[in-house]
Amino acid sequence: MSTDIKALKEAHTEHAVHDLIRQRFSARGFSDRPLSSETMNTLFEAAAWAPSSMNEQPWRYRYALRGTPAFEELWNCLAIGNQPWAKGAAALVVCLGRTNLQRNGQPNHYWLHDVGLANANLLIQAASMDIYGHLMGGFDHDKAKATLGLSELAEEVACFIALGHLGDAEQLVEPFKTREHTARVRRALSETVTAL
Ligand SMILES: Cc1cc2nc3c(=O)[nH]c(=O)nc-3n(C[C@H](O)[C@H](O)[C@H](O)COP(=O)(O)O)c2cc1C
Repeated sequence: MSTDIKALKEAHTEHAVHDLIRQRFSARGFSDRPLSSETMNTLFEAAAWAPSSMNEQPWRYRYALRGTPAFEELWNCLAIGNQPWAKGAAALVVCLGRTNLQRNGQPNHYWLHDVGLANANLLIQAASMDIYGHLMGGFDHDKAKATLGLSELAEEVACFIALGHLGDAEQLVEPFKTREHTARVRRALSETVTAL
């Protein structure tokens, strides 16, 4: 079943790109297979080797594995449009960023950019291990900060990520089942790129 979803979700590119880039997609249908803390550390290691402005490495991660009280707490922070499918994830990750430079306390204007780079590394590493991630901006910001006990100035919540191996998409409720069965699209490259 998940093989069909993988084929359906594969990117049809105008130019040849790496297989992992074609294969990664934002999954909603996860299997019961757990993720170990060792596997999670591999994903975070990949994230940690992303480039960042002045090597500030503003990313910070907190995560919880399915079946733990912490997983429930993180899941409770998600928007209702994400809760139904994200409940089946093997892990929920909160992506945080330090908004100030550690070297001098001045604002780091690139913190969110660099957290995004780290997350891209994490997703591609995950894809190489047949693990699928789904980023979520739909969450209750205040609830997330309160749940995590974040200090007001040092760290900001960027997004959540649901992670897991692919499962049976038929078990998803609508509209998530249809979304899982919908091919991915991108606008034409010519609308994105201008050679000068
Ligand atoms: C910062 C960010 C926030 C997102 N928030 C959500 C979300 O709250 N719920 C959701 O279902 N998908 C969310 N997505 C996933 C996007 O909808 C998805 O990446 C996009 O449609 C492209 O699909 P693909 O990742 O499968 O290529 C988010 C993605 C990013 C990068």
